[in-house]
Amino acid sequence: PRILILNGPNLNLLGTREPEIYGRDTLADVERLCREHGAARGMEIDFRQSNHEGEMVDWVHEARESCAGIVVNAGAYSHTSVALLDALLAAQLPVVEVHLSNLFKREAFRHHSYVTQAAMGLICGFGKDGYRYAIDALAARLGREEG
Ligand code: DQA
Repeated sequence: PRILILNGPNLNLLGTREPEIYGRDTLADVERLCREHGAARGMEIDFRQSNHEGEMVDWVHEARESCAGIVVNAGAYSHTSVALLDALLAAQLPVVEVHLSNLFKREAFRHHSYVTQAAMGLICGFGKDGYRYAIDALAARLGREEG
């Protein structure tokens, strides 16, 4: 199966952006981890990043046709975007939400995410390993659907 791994605003700056919070790995490192781990799970990975809310919405619409599931780190749009939530709900695909940092140790405005409403579950606080766990969660879910 093909899965969309969708990254939101400012995640292109990973590695140099607040490294004490987000670590030193770059988005290219995260992409490599996802491709390797996805391949090990027999999944084709469509890895994307955008700083634009509407572009993310468009990509979720595309995924309705082309993908079996979505891993999403919507960055700050997690906390603000009803539009992205609605797109994810419309997609009717299994969604796993990921954040590098532990949102619940941070400012109160990060404690609520609209994305969570559309997600099977939320993985946060494990840095880039969170993407690996998210791929595993989707693989388990899609395996159950097949079997
Ligand atoms: C983030 C957490 C968000 O609150 C923040 O706006 C980000 C990154 C994370 O991966 O920890 O951009 O999604």
